[in-house]
Amino acid sequence: MLKGKHIILGICGGIAAYKSAYLLRLLIKAGAEVQVVITPAGKEFITPVTLSALSGKPVISEFFTANTGSWNSHVDLGLWADAMVIAPATASTIGKMANGVADNMLVTTYLSAKAPVFVAPAMDLDMFAHPSTQRNLQLLRQYGNHIIEPASGELASHLVGKGRMEEPENIVKVLEEYFAASQSLACKRIMVTAGPTYEKIDPVRYIGNYSSGKMGYAIAEECASRGAEVVIISGPVSLKAENQSIKVVDVESAQEMYDASVKEFPRCDAAIMCAAVADYCVENQSSHKIKREHDELPVIRLKKNPDIAASLGTMKSDRQVLAGFALETDNEDANAVEKLHRKHLDFIVLNSLNEPGAGFKTDTNKVTIIDNTGNRRVYDLKSKRLVAKDIVDVLIEKMP
Ligand code: CTP
Repeated sequence: MLKGKHIILGICGGIAAYKSAYLLRLLIKAGAEVQVVITPAGKEFITPVTLSALSGKPVISEFFTANTGSWNSHVDLGLWADAMVIAPATASTIGKMANGVADNMLVTTYLSAKAPVFVAPAMDLDMFAHPSTQRNLQLLRQYGNHIIEPASGELASHLVGKGRMEEPENIVKVLEEYFAASQSLACKRIMVTAGPTYEKIDPVRYIGNYSSGKMGYAIAEECASRGAEVVIISGPVSLKAENQSIKVVDVESAQEMYDASVKEFPRCDAAIMCAAVADYCVENQSSHKIKREHDELPVIRLKKNPDIAASLGTMKSDRQVLAGFALETDNEDANAVEKLHRKHLDFIVLNSLNEPGAGFKTDTNKVTIIDNTGNRRVYDLKSKRLVAKDIVDVLIEKMP
């Protein structure tokens, strides 16, 4: 999995820096090309000569190479990398990364890196437990960085507790698992519907709903990060797909979402129906702005929209997986199971508006996934990005 991968190994000033030499050796043995970037404090703990001999490359520490005066481009380095691993990561560097304090080559490279970043903290137990360190780690998690939790054991201070950098073998394992997972949807094409639909009343008004599209976009990003070709059929949202490979088809009404979905679905291996589609549209749309001064109150007559998920359910072949969502306020479980069967879904993601932190607009969600064999998985309240991971894990299980 690591053969030919470009990895930046960031080393900070901590006792565990001696383990970085072994980590570097393991990465090289696994076939990776490794560029070491070390902080000034890191050099107090391990010499660049050792690291350069092991990596076969000069170690970068400063913005300029002293003898030649040539500039080390953190931007080029950040773009070169397939992954960046910071091991050991000290409390100080974690704080700088969390807050964008770009005062050394390691942190500037981190800020320029587009690749996934893995952070292996190493410090004394009290420093690790301090709310400041924990808050900074939480920020890094929110940025999408992967924290490789330190182990518990005897520390350099001889105190015993959580703070020992994870063993190099395990750090390599985390990287291998990451790269394996990033291929798990390779050659698969996945469609995601996201956001609300707007049903026109007149040229200036519509019927809509509170959906932000965050859940659908998070699922699309997760599928893309696992190697899938992704198309989002997106209602009006203020989001942009971060992964450049994601194709976005913008639609407004349920009918437009239906047309785009029916066109895309036959070329897809799976579809996740995350959009909050309006059940009704306006039958008597006005081509002119409806005015306030009316003798009688205007009447908006509604007609049913097509059920996109149910239509795809009837089109679906054995090689395709179809998943839906159910956002319920009452009889949550029974309603979700009824939709699962009526729409011929392989699984349904139930979220309840009664759960604090779940549903529309929030950055978090709490879901239960029910599949067509009756299997139920209940998850904790998590960020929508982590919920997307759980959903895509189930999707992969269901793929033929
Ligand atoms: N859905 C769809 N097209 C519609 C309505 C819903 O594709 N016209 C999809 C949603 O994207 C979701 C699932 O069907 O994956 C369930 O949506 P939901 O609004 O909960 O259910 P409805 O079938 O609309 O039923 P109700 O509004 O009565 O709860």
